[in-house]
Amino acid sequence: MSDNTVSLQQQAQIRKGIETDIGQLFAVEDEGLQYALRAAKEGGLPEIQISPIQGKLLQVLAAACHARKILEIGSLAGYSGIWLARALPAGGRLITLEVNEHHANIVRHAFSKAGVSDRAEVRVGKALDLLPQVQSEAPFDLVFIDADKPPYPQYLEWALRLTRPGSIIVADNCVRDGHAFHKSEDEGLTGLFEYNQRIANDPRLVSLALPMDDDYTDGFAIAVVRP
Ligand code: SAH
Ligand code: DHB
Ligand code: MG
Repeated sequence: MSDNTVSLQQQAQIRKGIETDIGQLFAVEDEGLQYALRAAKEGGLPEIQISPIQGKLLQVLAAACHARKILEIGSLAGYSGIWLARALPAGGRLITLEVNEHHANIVRHAFSKAGVSDRAEVRVGKALDLLPQVQSEAPFDLVFIDADKPPYPQYLEWALRLTRPGSIIVADNCVRDGHAFHKSEDEGLTGLFEYNQRIANDPRLVSLALPMDDDYTDGFAIAVVRP
């Protein structure tokens, strides 16, 4: 083993330690969030939910834009939805869109267990079919995009239509080991590449991609709609 390899391993270990420390201080999962994780596992869902630190970042962003209405595209088992719903003040509303009926049923249970059913609602269908109906409930203060990757540019168009100046648009998986910044043959990566290109260059937005998942190889792209 070369010295270089050892030092890379040490670096990875340091990053893991930082992640653990920050998580334990700022992003502790309660019973409701843990239930959503367990239910997802037992239901055979893929373990592709955001990390606790990303959940807390969503809450920080929701607070920054005084979020009362939040839209999520891609619910899975409701893990990110619970973080988002808990950032809402009394009378706030989260709408989350999910194509898979089995996933949506788990989400409903998870929201109920987490005590957010009064303000969080899952709607079942393809996001691109549901988004036109959501228009009457706009503007949303925060939009979180985390569904299928090829239509990310279309989700961005909808997010721009459904937000207000000062709203925040967050999209997951916008780093992808760096592949999301380069042209690709892959349909999903093409969607992510196009998404990053657009938010980076759109004069209506102030944007940044952040490598900030549990191993710093993937993460959110955050775009603020210019006031
Ligand atoms: N935000 C979740 C993870 C979402 S995983 C969390 O962090 O907890 C992606 C989800 O998007 C899956 O549940 C998948 O079924 C859903 N999905 C995929 N394509 C979709 C589409 N076209 N419309 C709505 N939901 C979709
Ligand atoms: C996948 C999707 C996600 O939204 C994610 O965060 C990780 C992985 C996937 O489809 O593989
Ligand atoms: Mg994701």
